Amino acid sequence: MLLGLFHWLNERLFLEMTDRSPLQEAFEKAGQGHVFRYFDELEPEERSRLIDQASEVDLKELENLVLEHIKGQKKAGLGTGNLEPARYIASPKKRGDTAVWAEAEMQGAEALRAGRVAAFTVAGGQGTRLGFDGPKGTFPITPVRGKPLFRVFAEKILATARHYKVAIPWFIMTSEANHIQTIVFFRENGFFGLEENGVHFFKQGRMPAVDFDGKILLETQGAIAMSPDGHGGSLRALVRSGALEIMRKAGIDIISYFQVDNPLLMPLDPAFIGFHLERESEMSSKMVGKTDPGEKVGVFCLRGDQLEVIEYSDLPVNLSQERESSGQLRYLAGSIAIHLISREFAQRAGGDDPSYRLPFHRAEKKVACVDSGGATVNPQSPNGVKFEMFVFDALRFAKNPLVVETLREEEFSPVKNATGVDSAQSCSDDMLRQWVRWLEAAGVDIQTDETGLSGISFEISPLFADSEKAFLEKWKSLALKPPIVEGFYLE
Ligand code: UD1
Repeated sequence: MLLGLFHWLNERLFLEMTDRSPLQEAFEKAGQGHVFRYFDELEPEERSRLIDQASEVDLKELENLVLEHIKGQKKAGLGTGNLEPARYIASPKKRGDTAVWAEAEMQGAEALRAGRVAAFTVAGGQGTRLGFDGPKGTFPITPVRGKPLFRVFAEKILATARHYKVAIPWFIMTSEANHIQTIVFFRENGFFGLEENGVHFFKQGRMPAVDFDGKILLETQGAIAMSPDGHGGSLRALVRSGALEIMRKAGIDIISYFQVDNPLLMPLDPAFIGFHLERESEMSSKMVGKTDPGEKVGVFCLRGDQLEVIEYSDLPVNLSQERESSGQLRYLAGSIAIHLISREFAQRAGGDDPSYRLPFHRAEKKVACVDSGGATVNPQSPNGVKFEMFVFDALRFAKNPLVVETLREEEFSPVKNATGVDSAQSCSDDMLRQWVRWLEAAGVDIQTDETGLSGISFEISPLFADSEKAFLEKWKSLALKPPIVEGFYLE
């Protein structure tokens, strides 16, 4: 028995040694040989983990990134010259044409009924700002039941599936750090009533962090500091994981993309889908009017006739402050990171064709790493650069990209910060305000403050209604008259 173990270990070590040599050589040639500095002192499983990690690194890609972003200080965007505000289809509740919207809604409903649409959530981020220890989707958010973000989306998807009497698959992109925990969470919660085989999880790719000389940072003596490659990595991951192939086989040609941090949104909006189809768009996006020049959302802009999102940190202050004669912000169209992506476009943009390659953006971060003595330290100020792709950069490759307006109070209240703006509290309050509006539209009188927030907490499940229209229909048809008291819950 012991002899067997000895042989197994020897064989494994031998394999690792022969495995590691070409890899190590490649790293040395690329000026990254230090990644294996402690290799000989590592335990066998640490060695194989380091080898796995190192094999994930595309050294050529990294070399180019270091040349561009570290040595050349190049930014990923195309600069901010020649920009104009983007055009968009106005909401029917603003100045949009209700007949045009009704037509789009019918067309989108038909696509939903035909099973052509899948929901897709990007949930690979690290949620550092929220300070929550766990996958962000597991964060409890609703005011009475404390339903986690994932449950809210699951119930909205289930409500749509029931309404259209169709199976709607849900694809969820996780990252190395939260993949297992996410799956376990869904299992423990019975997939929130969804068919288990209709929920597909896949991991996004990773990139190594580098120091300001472009050298790969080691997180420990036996591990590279790797981090998710940004939500733009979702396009590659959709292709590499086989998710697009599953969609193709299921007859799905539209991917409804949204972020895990915004439970107010409609995951599958028929009117939005209708516009996307009608205009033969390959990638469509929703916008809301920015509240103020400094709001931290990307802005839809035109460069010539090309649509782009300029990230809030990149939009020059003078442009962000420009106003129309009416007083309205000129660069108004804030991105709320909701997109419809045609499956064929995702296949192209996430494939190997270099002409569709998304750029990487650099972000200076504090990266825990080993010091010269080999101990892991947590730096007090940024010591490294992480590389991320942004999904909205794919707009530049898309045919007929489209921007559609939605209302902030109906679809945008992200959970990003622990307190204050865009926090769990502000999001839960916005949910309450929405349900107050629905009840008021049904003729129920509710005491609120000047912001429309009720003094009591109550909750309406998406399984009862997932929009004002659905709510009014159901409320009236059931002739409900329950007392709306603290803790009231309707499902
Ligand atoms: C993002 C957008 C911003 C938009 C705003 C709307 C960027 C750079 N900016 O800002 O234009 O106005 O949302 O709320 O995205 N994620 C992954 N993998 C990653 C990184 C992120 O899946 O590697 C997911 C997160 O889980 C989250 C979403 O992407 O669902 C947003 O990421 P985050 O980095 O929080 O974006 P913001 O800076 O808030």
